[in-house]
Amino acid sequence: MHRKSFLTLGGSLITAGSLKSLHTNILDRTFNNKTDLNWEMIRTLFPLKRDVTFLNNGTMGITPYAVLETVQDEFQRIAETAQYPHHTDELESLLAKTIGADANEIAITKNVSEGINHICWGLDLKKGDEVILTKHEHVGGCAAWLYRAKKDGIVIKTFDLAFTAAQSLENLNAAITKKTKVIAVPHIPCTIGQVLPVKEICSLAKSKNIVSCIDGAHPLGMVQFNVKDIGCDYYAGCLHKWMLGPIGTGWMYIRKDLLAETKITHVAAYSMDTFNMNANPPQLGDLIDKTSRYCYGTFSGPLFKGALKSLQMYHQIGGENIENRVKFLGGYLQNSLLEIGDGIEMLTPTESISRAAQIGFKINPSKTKKEKPNIGFANYARSKGMILRHVGENDIDCVRVSTHYYNSTDEIDLCIKLLKEYAFG
Ligand SMILES: Cc1ncc(COP(=O)(O)O)c(C=O)c1O
Repeated sequence: MHRKSFLTLGGSLITAGSLKSLHTNILDRTFNNKTDLNWEMIRTLFPLKRDVTFLNNGTMGITPYAVLETVQDEFQRIAETAQYPHHTDELESLLAKTIGADANEIAITKNVSEGINHICWGLDLKKGDEVILTKHEHVGGCAAWLYRAKKDGIVIKTFDLAFTAAQSLENLNAAITKKTKVIAVPHIPCTIGQVLPVKEICSLAKSKNIVSCIDGAHPLGMVQFNVKDIGCDYYAGCLHKWMLGPIGTGWMYIRKDLLAETKITHVAAYSMDTFNMNANPPQLGDLIDKTSRYCYGTFSGPLFKGALKSLQMYHQIGGENIENRVKFLGGYLQNSLLEIGDGIEMLTPTESISRAAQIGFKINPSKTKKEKPNIGFANYARSKGMILRHVGENDIDCVRVSTHYYNSTDEIDLCIKLLKEYAFG
């Protein structure tokens, strides 16, 4: 045994070795009986301590044992055998299958921000060209565009998200001008978890010859989607949120026919086929005809293996089961909040096409004695062992609660109890 990890279950000591078979066992049982999943049992697949109520998966996914062990084992294997972790396309292939892409259209990145940067700096934009974003961007979704505005003089426009998908689409349409070259929006914004009508947005973009770029930090592992069905040109996502992969793993999709015209600034091993410093002048071979040309140099083989494991686990439980579960919990939370009445301002739309597993709300300042109730509640919850997010960016000032499949209705009930106690007690 090379690690000291252990826990007790039913009073008996479980070592790292037997833990692994226990997890495999639970997953196998899960796999064999997908229609009647035991979510309480699935919760035991996570080392997250029982006294931590984690309702902030939107910031960071909690690592399951299976992923943790895969990463640890791979580091151990490399240390023991001195074998260099050469790149295979196993991870790209399974990821591509999960989102309906071709493996050659995927590059592994370290996070969403990296993917957004590759896309933003890869586009041929000139001074005065307009790029439309929402007012609900994460810094990772907008910083590259804002920096390009500073450096290259592109113009950033924004539009308001509305309470219905149809109205949001109308607002976007109104922001489009003859100078609009890119629409870059989150599939699910980090602020209030509203699911945007990305298929309609991309179709609108296409009809006006505008490039579409989707910031997909949240959907993968939460809701099922297919990039071909969405019809986007570019999509940047991560594996370290809802997919529950290792921290520091992401991905980027570039539609095949756009690869050649998308600029690339950084290249190294795995970007091209050959190079020759003896030629006169020294020569660089052709860039490989795959989006993975953006994933260059030595990479973390153990993190890639862990990310692959997270995708395998996702498929073992089943994407549809996961989507149903996280949406059920999100709906349960939203309804419980709505029952509070005018003490709460609900920010996440209630129409089913526009909501999933992240709910954003504000505490009505006229119904509480607290001065800064939203951040105050987030701090209060933390003092009670519950982690959720206060969204302070762009003066949005709301509370965001994320519900993943490892959460439970009991945890949501506790969240509501703490909220009432803090704000209206
Ligand atoms: C919508 C959105 N975009 C981009 C990011 C940045 O992601 P990363 O930290 O993986 O770069 C986040 C992170 O929370 C996000 O929520």
